Amino acid sequence: MVNREYLAMLSNKNVIRELSEYATARGKEIGYENVFDFSLGNPSVPAPDSYRDVSIRLLQEEEPLKLHGYNPTLGDPRVKEKVAASLSARFGLAYTPGLIFPTAGAAGAIAHAVRSVVEPGEEVMVFAPYFSEYNPYVHGAGADLRVVPMKEDDFQINFEAAEAIFSEKTAAVLINTPNNPSGAVYTEETLQKLAEVLTQKSQQYGHTIFLISDEPYREIVFDGKKQAYPAKFYPHTLTCYSFSKSISLPGERIGYVAVSPDCEQAENLVPMMGQISRGLGHNCPSSLPMLAAAYCLEETSDLSVYETNMNLLYDTFKELGFTVPRPGGTFYIMPKALEENAIAFCKKALKYDLVFVPGDGFHAPGFFRAAYCVDTEKVERSLPAIRRFVETEYPNR
Ligand SMILES: Cc1ncc(COP(=O)(O)O)c(C=O)c1O
Repeated sequence: MVNREYLAMLSNKNVIRELSEYATARGKEIGYENVFDFSLGNPSVPAPDSYRDVSIRLLQEEEPLKLHGYNPTLGDPRVKEKVAASLSARFGLAYTPGLIFPTAGAAGAIAHAVRSVVEPGEEVMVFAPYFSEYNPYVHGAGADLRVVPMKEDDFQINFEAAEAIFSEKTAAVLINTPNNPSGAVYTEETLQKLAEVLTQKSQQYGHTIFLISDEPYREIVFDGKKQAYPAKFYPHTLTCYSFSKSISLPGERIGYVAVSPDCEQAENLVPMMGQISRGLGHNCPSSLPMLAAAYCLEETSDLSVYETNMNLLYDTFKELGFTVPRPGGTFYIMPKALEENAIAFCKKALKYDLVFVPGDGFHAPGFFRAAYCVDTEKVERSLPAIRRFVETEYPNR
């Protein structure tokens, strides 16, 4: 017999992928340039030249057997050293190479982080709206995902609602800032309050509640601001990072977990992740892209296009009467749909070749997400279509 759990998951397909497939198929009919596909979070700006240059240099100069050989279970020491030094200099925490675990993107990082601090049957708390893949990431570890309802006015943390979700089984809280899908950037006040709550709840329940901080969008923050570093606020933090968005390398599958120096069991967590890898069948990310990225830690792609796109869409949505908190970062915006049922709203948008994702999968019913990692020229061309869609379908809004 095949595995029934995974078989059942086939009927519960990823809506974002389905919409993106729809957009690709529609593109074959009318030309992809005419489909305003805001469905997928695939970067629209290339990796920095330095990434290509360093990859070429490594290929030309490194000894091939060494470059392409197996890495140690806990990752390439050069990568670990560079990441630890960069994080320490940037955020003022004393990371050492032993606290860094290179992974296959943020997905791999979260898979390891969750398993290292959560046991089957325990709970991981997330705050809506949240990245829908957290469901399989957490369930795959045998844990339960507990969702705190969203704070609609600004998409910061709804602490009042969290009170009812905490339990003795809460082993970890998983946050994502800057946030996919809302674009919210958690403020210092939010992170400070979260740290206080976690400290208090850890005392109340007699065990440490870990913070898993998923940060693929750390570098994509608007208005010249910076994302406050969650690990600075709470010692028991496992920071999950990815090079998918900051240097536009989602296909390379590279990232890392950084265990905070003062985290409970800090010295054991990375070696434990090495053991977790054995069971997951995931042993270190690909060596060449990971090493090349480690030489580009202080660089990003040209991320300014995302802010330009955000402003174009935000201004248009506001002008058309949408309720929409202004994103502080990422390449997502999440307005309230113009009818209660966001799925119906997104279906109507398809008639105008506008591909939006309903918020339901992000635990944000009534909202929809637009991913504006597309060319600015296309965003500009989409604005009249958005206007036409809204004025035709919702004349009395
Ligand atoms: C919030 C969030 N976490 C994790 C991931 C997974 O990223 P990666 O490509 O690094 O596995 C994504 C990808 O879109 C994401 O948006």
